[in-house]
Amino acid sequence: MFGSCLWQNRAHPALGVAIAREPDAFVFLGDNVYADSTNPVQIQDAYDRLGRSDLFRELWQTTHVHAVWDDHDYGANDAGADFPAREASEHIFENFWDIDGPAASRPGIYGSARLADGAIQLVLLDTRSFRSPLTRARPRPQGKGPYAQSDDGTILGAEQWQWLERTLERPAELRIIASSIQVLASHHGWESWANFPHERERLLSLVADSGGAAVFISGDRHFAEISRVPAPVGRTDAAGTGRRYFYDMTSSGINRRYPHEVPTANANRVDGYYLHHNVGELALFHEDGELSIRARIYDEEGGVRLEEIIDLGGATTP
Ligand SMILES: [Fe+2]
Repeated sequence: MFGSCLWQNRAHPALGVAIAREPDAFVFLGDNVYADSTNPVQIQDAYDRLGRSDLFRELWQTTHVHAVWDDHDYGANDAGADFPAREASEHIFENFWDIDGPAASRPGIYGSARLADGAIQLVLLDTRSFRSPLTRARPRPQGKGPYAQSDDGTILGAEQWQWLERTLERPAELRIIASSIQVLASHHGWESWANFPHERERLLSLVADSGGAAVFISGDRHFAEISRVPAPVGRTDAAGTGRRYFYDMTSSGINRRYPHEVPTANANRVDGYYLHHNVGELALFHEDGELSIRARIYDEEGGVRLEEIIDLGGATTP
């Protein structure tokens, strides 16, 4: 299961929904606290408050918890590589989330883990520490956020890209790729991979070439939706057989909600959206030897608000 955007000063019953589902793992997808400070004392204080939450502690004790950060736990709205308290914030993050080994000793919070007896590779991307400045849209198009698409710049940075290439060479039946910002939503002008189309193309080609099935999970937006694009033809299916879709399950927020009646337009959205507090779930099952995922978004009472069956085996592009 997974979720994002938890304001540590308010109740967050959606975590109780996750606990009740007894997930094998829970991934916090960023804005896990709202620190919004360059002062390490204030950043630490935000985490301390989350750490005192009964629901958080129960989740921590009953499942494997993983995390990436987004801008507000990193320390500033829409911040990137030039955020002045990056190193102090990273130290607090790695200490709170109990990260050690190479992921803790190198700059950035990216890393990977194995779930389900090793069959699933969880890839945790750092979309903050190395990200180039965003480009403002002038004029800002109506109905869109403040950012334009840029032909240059980076989200992951050179070292994280090299690490990702090595990481995706390792075999896995399924890769779950966690990004704080949306990977597959069409360009909406708020933060997303669509602001850096060349970086997004590079990511999708790399994942398609890696073999095995893949699904993206993301947060950030304060609403839930599912995005889908045809996967590029990768190395392992160059003949065109087995061409499939990539999905991006966006769950946001655990206790932050969208302030408008409808979300931003997303040409890649499938099957609606949900604007109130939520958490996401990927349930894996095998049917006739093929791996499928039942992807769900739950509201904070445990009701199912979105559901999609993701066929990872042999979906063909219409
Ligand atoms: Fe948020």
